[in-house]
Amino acid sequence: MKILVIGGGGREHALCWKLAQTAGVEVFASPGNPGMARVGKCLPLEQAEELGADLTVVGPEGPLVEGIVDRFRARGLRIVGPNREAARLEGSKAYAKYFMQQRGIPTAESVTVDSAEDARKAVERFGFPVVLKADGLAAGKGVIIAENSAAAEAALGVLGPPRGRLVVEEFLRGEEVSFIALSDGRDVATLAPTQDHKAAFDGDTGPNTGGMGAYCDSSILSESQTTEVLERVIYPTVEATGFTGFLYAGLMMTESGPKVLEFNVRLGDPETQPLMHRMASDFAPALMAAAEGELGGVKLEWRREPSVCVVMASGGYPGGFETGKAIHGIEEAERFGVTVFQAGTRMGERGLETAGGRVLGVTASGGDLAEAIARAYEGVERIRFEGMHYRRDIGSKGVGRSGGASVLTTG
Ligand code: AMP
Ligand code: GLY
Repeated sequence: MKILVIGGGGREHALCWKLAQTAGVEVFASPGNPGMARVGKCLPLEQAEELGADLTVVGPEGPLVEGIVDRFRARGLRIVGPNREAARLEGSKAYAKYFMQQRGIPTAESVTVDSAEDARKAVERFGFPVVLKADGLAAGKGVIIAENSAAAEAALGVLGPPRGRLVVEEFLRGEEVSFIALSDGRDVATLAPTQDHKAAFDGDTGPNTGGMGAYCDSSILSESQTTEVLERVIYPTVEATGFTGFLYAGLMMTESGPKVLEFNVRLGDPETQPLMHRMASDFAPALMAAAEGELGGVKLEWRREPSVCVVMASGGYPGGFETGKAIHGIEEAERFGVTVFQAGTRMGERGLETAGGRVLGVTASGGDLAEAIARAYEGVERIRFEGMHYRRDIGSKGVGRSGGASVLTTG
């Protein structure tokens, strides 16, 4: 069976790596990257539709929002992902808020505004800190949390009208959880909960990024919390939209229960890296079932061992950065026993080099979360490229929660 993965980042490398473990599956990636070329064949996007894959799985939101699923389905091709209409849940924050308000799905209180004047009124209403969100896709850079009116004014200058509509919302406190479910339009298979680390630097400081690391551990949500999220967020959304593909609810676990910060209509990056590492089930049959509307009764199984992914990024990311830096030590790290998922890499004349902001996702599992973290960082320490930076505290909140000793990492 030919499975085609659309995308070229760490999330897609992890997906390809997992799918390649299923007997009889031939993995293709478009456009892919040098990491994916190790587990499958890469082909240009223009050739993807012509491949005639038995199943296509879409990684990033861009093609989904542009309607790749509608196009493939119109040609009778099996594909996992939402149609263009359902992809609006991620493509427009104003639409997602409207949808949640209509359906009574728990989320932060908010108003959508079209003018700077209305934005200022909304800011006044919510008080500080206040959250300002650009309406459209912004690669994780469309949200600003303003602590005072000067910061809110500055945020308005960056995001606000006339650039586009703005969602102004109440600031929520709690722990963030990435909750992802695979749906066939009616039935749902739940993925294990993960926690991302969006801020660039240790202790959740610095600007927001696409995600600097993630871990997957059963301690992130209790069974009753999982049930609550399914009943209050996932099932009503699937029922209302007939959603197909990966529905990702970015949640804040507040004192008054889970609230949706955002919907994504795809797998998370880097959440997919620890998810694929910890998944015990074969993924290919579940994806096929999802594409065929036969997910009923499918349950994904997870290893007990937690998993962790530490992202190694280019110097300067999420701001400007240089590319073309030689990457050393991946093989040594892999010999040590970690899995190195590639994101922003390319094959240069002298070997593998950096080609993006987030470059590698060093991923490991362990007997407990502390051990998984220690192993991942031992892998990280074997890898180097000029200017690299990474967070040294990935997963440490989870270690606190599961009652283990806190972990210090060096290097
Ligand atoms: P979003 O793209 O909407 O998930 O926002 C990006 C990040 O901003 C989230 O992962 C949170 O860390 C933060 N954030 C967004 N909305 C809120 C909110 N209402 N209260 C607190 N933090 C938020
Ligand atoms: N890691 C956050 C996201 O994929 O949106």
